[in-house]
Amino acid sequence: MLDELRQVEEEARSSLRVVQSGENLEIWRRRYLGKNGALTEMLRSVGDLPKDERPAFGRAANEAKRGLEEAFQRRADELERQDTERELRGGSVDVTLPGRPIGPGHLHITTQTLRQIYAIFADMGFQVYEAPEVETDELNFGLLNMPPDHPARDMWDTFWVEEGVVMRTHTSPGQIRAMREYCPEPIRVILPGKCYRYEQVSARSEHQFYQVEGLAVGHDIRMTDLIGTLTEFARRFYGGVGRLRMRGSYFPFTEPSIEADIECILCEGLGCRVCKNSGWLEIAGAGMVHPVVLENGGYDPTEWSGFAFGTGVERPAMLKHGIDDIRLFYGNDLRFLRQF
Ligand code: DAH
Repeated sequence: MLDELRQVEEEARSSLRVVQSGENLEIWRRRYLGKNGALTEMLRSVGDLPKDERPAFGRAANEAKRGLEEAFQRRADELERQDTERELRGGSVDVTLPGRPIGPGHLHITTQTLRQIYAIFADMGFQVYEAPEVETDELNFGLLNMPPDHPARDMWDTFWVEEGVVMRTHTSPGQIRAMREYCPEPIRVILPGKCYRYEQVSARSEHQFYQVEGLAVGHDIRMTDLIGTLTEFARRFYGGVGRLRMRGSYFPFTEPSIEADIECILCEGLGCRVCKNSGWLEIAGAGMVHPVVLENGGYDPTEWSGFAFGTGVERPAMLKHGIDDIRLFYGNDLRFLRQF
């Protein structure tokens, strides 16, 4: 039996040396190492041997098998190397061809929109001020005149990071940060950035989205300054001569509060699906900074006044470009992104 084993091993090794293709290599593998291969058969026949010969033969057969497996792997590697060399030297791969060009990317529609907004407000003297996306409960709510248990907190569905820490639900907490940094100077800033809400995602709502907040603090700042600023912004951003309207509203951090609407740019006020037949589109929440908020920022409300506003970014972009699903902004579909 041992002699037979040596013979099979010898034969296998010499035939492996002349194998020249992957196909033949596989045939070789099946013949010697496969399920019904010669060596496998021999290992299976250990049971037929007298008991005292079994251990020595079993060991020898296993060794032979391992040796052949190694030889097989070496030959496979060799063949692959040869193939690659042959291809490189003049076969199917021309290494002198230029590579496939990777085209330059371009700015995301959201970034483009943000930059348009920055440019318009820069012309009106507003600086960009960035604040963190992870905020304390105190800044996101408390210092904006919403102590714990204030029912107005229900207007913002919130992701909690840990107790007392939230993913900011709006850019308004940046107002407090800006005031505390600039006090006692006058302020004119916009605060752009990502906000998060625990929302059911749909064509109209995402759980992440951008806002741009505006804040002006100074002496004798009035509602007319706010209206003028929003009007100028709307005219330049949306274009056209559509009318603007201000409605009384409620936000805990402004008093009085308003919402600004622009005449629907799609139907020019006649009423359509986008404006829900009202002829108007909401563009911003706004108001005069609440005295408590001014005080929390370090300003004496008997001497200082200010206005603030907050607007979205994706929704205005949707209106401008006729995009009907906010989820496209985060879907990473190049067919969508390349259009802008
Ligand atoms: N923070 C508000 C929101 O996310 C938007 C807003 C309303 C911002 C009025 C303001 C403001 O600065 O004055 O719904």
